[in-house]
Amino acid sequence: MRKLDQSMTPLFSALKEYHSKNVIPFDVPGHKHGVGLSELREFLGSTVLEVDVNSMKCLDNLCNPIGVIEEAQELAAEAFWGDYAYYVVNGTTAAVQAMIMSACEPGDKIILPRNAHKSATSAIILSGAIPVYIQPEIDENLGIAMGVSLEEIEWAIGKHPDAKAIFLINPTYYGAVSDLAAIARLAHRNGMAVLVDEAHGAHMNFHDDLPEAAMTVGADMAAVSMHKTGGSLTQSSILLLRDGIIDPKHVKTTLSLTQTTSASYLLMSSLDVARKQLAMNGGEMLEGVLTLVRDARDKINKIEGLYAFGKELMDGKGVYDFDETKLGVNVRKIGLTGYEVYDILRDAYNIQVELADLYNILAIVSLGDTENSLNALVEALEDIAKKYKKEEEIKLQKSILKNPDLIISPRDAYYSNKHAVPLDKAEGEISGESVMVYPPGIPLIVPGERITRDIIEYIKVLKEEECLLQGTQDPYADYINVLGSE
Ligand SMILES: Cc1ncc(COP(=O)(O)O)c(C=O)c1O
Repeated sequence: MRKLDQSMTPLFSALKEYHSKNVIPFDVPGHKHGVGLSELREFLGSTVLEVDVNSMKCLDNLCNPIGVIEEAQELAAEAFWGDYAYYVVNGTTAAVQAMIMSACEPGDKIILPRNAHKSATSAIILSGAIPVYIQPEIDENLGIAMGVSLEEIEWAIGKHPDAKAIFLINPTYYGAVSDLAAIARLAHRNGMAVLVDEAHGAHMNFHDDLPEAAMTVGADMAAVSMHKTGGSLTQSSILLLRDGIIDPKHVKTTLSLTQTTSASYLLMSSLDVARKQLAMNGGEMLEGVLTLVRDARDKINKIEGLYAFGKELMDGKGVYDFDETKLGVNVRKIGLTGYEVYDILRDAYNIQVELADLYNILAIVSLGDTENSLNALVEALEDIAKKYKKEEEIKLQKSILKNPDLIISPRDAYYSNKHAVPLDKAEGEISGESVMVYPPGIPLIVPGERITRDIIEYIKVLKEEECLLQGTQDPYADYINVLGSE
């Protein structure tokens, strides 16, 4: 039930008012409305730099919002069905970190799926929480991790009844959604908080055909990447909280541990305007998005060798629901890896997709797409399937998403003595760092885990495919830091 006027943009309006006044700036930023950075001002346009300002009375302060930022956050809380909303300008990474650090103290257990993003891993190091990794369901045919089943959560709660929180992803990068409502009920019956990474779900609350958003099914907190699918500027994000298990005052204090004291008004006002747009016109806009993406999916599925997966994957377990705006295409049968198709799309067709893995590419379809953009993608894929097709399809690798053993806590491993060994010689060692494939930023190994031969071999395959590995001090991941002295 709405109480607030969602057509209002308190923060954006205050920023426009400030702009209209031609205030003489003797505060930072030192470019002083762009006068001191004319090359960028000419390219971006003067207004962008004129409103790139710092906190002041009329614009409130993100560190302690009591004016227009507070009003904007209240509107966001209502639009996303939370009791509280906090603007975050350090990306959803900072929101995930604050969420886990608010719910867990050092030594508290947190149940989370292995395919959690690296921000969850860093949050675990920062908070000192002990991860209890659960296995997401794996679609062996597509080679990707999906959601987690209720049974897997029941098993983890049975083994770790003292866990403090459960962390879930809603939806995964590729669009899979777990049975969040049932998991939240189960977690609450066992006194555990439900924390949800909604980096890819900012749009979901605004159309009935989309999966349910975390706040609507009883989650305690959700970290929402407004900048990914909600329409706001890159790095802007919202942290949501429901009254109950976690104290809102504690969340505010925790956020201020890592959040900048110079929050960007470009980012924050984009959150205000994007929230208004979703609340006022989201339903209609998303109806258009769904029509476009459904049509594109149908057309791609008529191209020989390509498979644009969608709602047919729903199995009540790892895919309880599916976000159709995630247009994942399995390309294995045309004999090309996802990485190759990703590059061909960019180099030969001027199309940038979100990510690739060995077998798939992922296109994100969102509020800014048009019939033309989707036609360009479909036509390019049609062309690629003809021109670049190879005789042999890409062989399915054995899935490596089996959890390695956690020997010591990620935080203890992070602070232990370490030395570098060649990756090939690291079998049996305890890792001192993460190895991540980016995107989607899922760790293959995290600090404190025992390195297995399977993991080494899989990393070697990824390196041969020239995919981007991150997390190791060695930029090429030829060496990995392991625990102990040389
Ligand atoms: C599932 C997931 N969570 C969190 C993040 C972190 O978001 P950000 O890049 O805004 O820090 C990402 C980024 O890709 C993500 O995919």
